[in-house]
Amino acid sequence: MSGLCNEKLIYGNLINGQWVESASGKVITITSPADGSLVGEIQALSKEEVNEVIRYSKESLSLWSSVPIYEKAGILYKAAELLEERAEEISDILMMEIAKDKKSSVSEVKRTADFLRFTADAGKSLEGIAVSGENFPGGSRNKMSYVKRVPLGTVLAISPFNYPINLSASKIGPALIGGNTVILKPATQGAISALHLVKALQDAGLPGGVLQTVTGKGSEIGDYIVTHGGIDFINFTGSTEVGRHLSQISCMTPLLLELGGKDAALVLEDADLEYAARNIVEGAFSYSGQRCTAVKRIITTDEVADRLVDMLKAGIEKLPVGDPRENVVVTPLIDQKSADFAEFLIQDAIAKGAGLIVGNKREGNLIYPTLLDHVTVDMEIAWKEPFSPILPIIRVENMEEAVEIANRSEYGLQSSVFTKDINKAFRIAEKLEVGTVQINNKTERGPDHFPFLGVKASGMGTQGVKYSIEAMTRPKAITINLTE
Ligand code: NAP
Ligand code: G3P
Repeated sequence: MSGLCNEKLIYGNLINGQWVESASGKVITITSPADGSLVGEIQALSKEEVNEVIRYSKESLSLWSSVPIYEKAGILYKAAELLEERAEEISDILMMEIAKDKKSSVSEVKRTADFLRFTADAGKSLEGIAVSGENFPGGSRNKMSYVKRVPLGTVLAISPFNYPINLSASKIGPALIGGNTVILKPATQGAISALHLVKALQDAGLPGGVLQTVTGKGSEIGDYIVTHGGIDFINFTGSTEVGRHLSQISCMTPLLLELGGKDAALVLEDADLEYAARNIVEGAFSYSGQRCTAVKRIITTDEVADRLVDMLKAGIEKLPVGDPRENVVVTPLIDQKSADFAEFLIQDAIAKGAGLIVGNKREGNLIYPTLLDHVTVDMEIAWKEPFSPILPIIRVENMEEAVEIANRSEYGLQSSVFTKDINKAFRIAEKLEVGTVQINNKTERGPDHFPFLGVKASGMGTQGVKYSIEAMTRPKAITINLTE
């Protein structure tokens, strides 16, 4: 194949610098959740081909780690430029492949270009340290440790369907600048978008073998790659279910996990409710709630809920719903299974007594934005991650109870606290068992140089430009012993 795909929309994998089809002849057809049209076909690699990819990755390590950082950074700058030039083309693919609305698709591509540039800058600022032996009892000035960061080796990057460009680049960029070689296993639905990112990096001048791809169903090829002895680090974003499985089988291979969430917005009585309502609607329903950081529950008192409900309803009713190409916010979910699950959560809540304020309408995989009031702890929607446009309101007696219910979740990604009282905000923030608390803002990942992490079932390890570079490099100490 001469490029990443042929005229029949058959996509290859980038293996040792060439776009190639699988010798197995097995392909997976990718159709659009928007209208069922063909997006393309991707390869289902065999185990033998995975072995080859890993071998090339190992062979490329010494070459890549010897490339000066400023040259590595130059490649990332160039890739960022190419992504921006191709933003329209790539966002059109995102719209069709994962039914992401136009505005969010363009923003994902541009944000990724910024991410790569920031990563290049951070790489150029990497410095080592010198530690003198004299600081420790019995130590001596004659002993000095020179410590710098070195690559881990071959990084396996596994990305989810919902941000195939951004959450692939957030692993690839920091891994490359740290001197690692990378194998990307993108989500099957989302793989075509991710392959376009890889093409931009290849066109920017990455040597063959430094970045390669492996497409194929995670359920078929995933365990094989994850447990392969040639993988030195696994950087995974996806569901808690798959993340937990990978941590069980990965044995001694270090891994970083970004998993699911059930982010709560705690709204206090003194909050600016108009602002909170606007902000929460955006946080809960953008890309149809298919974001790990979407606001997935509101926890508040009766007094606030009574006033907030009307404001939320008004905001939700204005949300444009439909085809991702038509300037909307809420689009069809990624597949039928996700839409069935969303419908189940809504029906379960209504059957157990929740109040339906708006929504509960389905057309195919399109779930209309749904607001449920008086949600109680016996309902599935109180605890499950819907990954769809459903927002439950849980009413509590006071903020102590709100914190208790927020923390009772198995997840611990982010939480929001809306209040005008900064003292209260800080006191509550200290008690919330999450990676990040947002004061007076919806839960969200960015800006992408902030530390981003989940605790409990939401993950392990920290992402964010410099944190990701640190996670995918290790200290190497060389101790100098001066003689008298
Ligand atoms: P998923 O089903 O867990 O899949 C994630 C990735 O894992 C895909 O590439 C998938 O490949 C692969 N995979 C599946 N089984 C595997 C195995 N046995 N070995 C290796 N890889 C395997 O998640 P998703 O549906 O794509 O994404 C949605 C989930 O991701 C949500 O729970 C969301 O909260 C979470 N997420 C978390 C963050 C965060 O930063 N915390 C960010 C985004 C998304 P296939 O597609 O081929 O199955
Ligand atoms: O779910 C993907 C995660 O990276 C969220 O990013 O910017 O939508 O909060 P964001």
